[in-house]
Amino acid sequence: MPLRSKIIGTGSYLPEKIIDNVDLERKVDTSDEWITERTGIKQRRVVRDGETSSDLCLEASKRALLAAGMEAKDVELVIVATMSGDMPMPSTASILQNRLGATHAGAFDLNAACSGFIYGLSVADNFIKGGTFSNILLVGAEVNSRFLDWSDRKTCVLFGDGAGAVVLKSTRGRSGILSTHIYSDGRLWDYICVPGGGASHPPTMETVKKGMHFIKMRGHETFKVAVKTLEKLVVDTLKANKIKPSDLAMLIPHQANLRIITATARRLNLPMEKVAVNLDKYGNTSSASIPIALDEVVREGRLKKNEYVMLEAFGGGLTWASAMIRW
Ligand code: UT7
Repeated sequence: MPLRSKIIGTGSYLPEKIIDNVDLERKVDTSDEWITERTGIKQRRVVRDGETSSDLCLEASKRALLAAGMEAKDVELVIVATMSGDMPMPSTASILQNRLGATHAGAFDLNAACSGFIYGLSVADNFIKGGTFSNILLVGAEVNSRFLDWSDRKTCVLFGDGAGAVVLKSTRGRSGILSTHIYSDGRLWDYICVPGGGASHPPTMETVKKGMHFIKMRGHETFKVAVKTLEKLVVDTLKANKIKPSDLAMLIPHQANLRIITATARRLNLPMEKVAVNLDKYGNTSSASIPIALDEVVREGRLKKNEYVMLEAFGGGLTWASAMIRW
């Protein structure tokens, strides 16, 4: 049997502070009704002062390692998918590697916005299949709240903070990651972006005054591309694995908008009981949304050995990605 990577442990961590839709009604011209109807979000978690991405990563990683029965010193590679790391350099993965005591591991961050976790899964899977590493820690973590303009109702109601982690191990069994698929259309980069703070517009008084360090999104345009793209992506992913929609035990989608999630489920004729939804509690946590949802599904006992589970995501880049797993 060829080498395969298997998720042997999951973990997640959400900051304690909750901001609900009614709290937001006091900040911007919005309503619980609008946010609930258009997005499905009821509340989101946000970090407290001083809390960072690596803090969230650390807790999620400890839980994943505990579930996997693996010690940090046995991890060979740490990948953190994030677009809101502790600082531009070094990587949050290196900070996490030190804080965890993963002394033998290489470490790097990966940014594919909301598709980052599945991109990371693809990278980790290929390192394992190629025989380079046997034990990999992959984390998706975001502190989106620090990059939100809390006076912009078009974005501040959507996002939240959190982290999810998985431990991947090489196996030769029938279960594990069957395929990963990653795509991008960089022509549409400005649909979702943080225009300032990077090398093209380094931080100055001017960029800060213009709010260029905040997340900007052309929501409606993104929504239309997302629905169309994801409908094709999930069908293609099933086809690539010769799996029928009815054989799928769970779909774990990125949690951006309940209307996008239901449209994708409808395309596959999947009942919503087979679809992981937690954006009502956490909002859109970008690259953390899928590992958080996966951890919840696993801990609730909703996935049994050998069942098929599909992950799919869409986000800034634009990027989109999917993975098929035999649990
Ligand atoms: O995770 C990365 C990928 N991201 C996504 O996939 C997000 C995709 N986009 C979406 O989820 C949706 O487009 C949104 C939730 C962002 C917006 O929903 P929409 O149904 O596309 O609304 P819209 O942008 O077309 O806005 C409709 C109206 C506008 O008012 P007018 O121009 O019709 O008078 C907005 O100004 O709703 C207004 N609006 C709001 N009203 C109350 C926008 N935001 C709000 C708000 N509260 N927070």
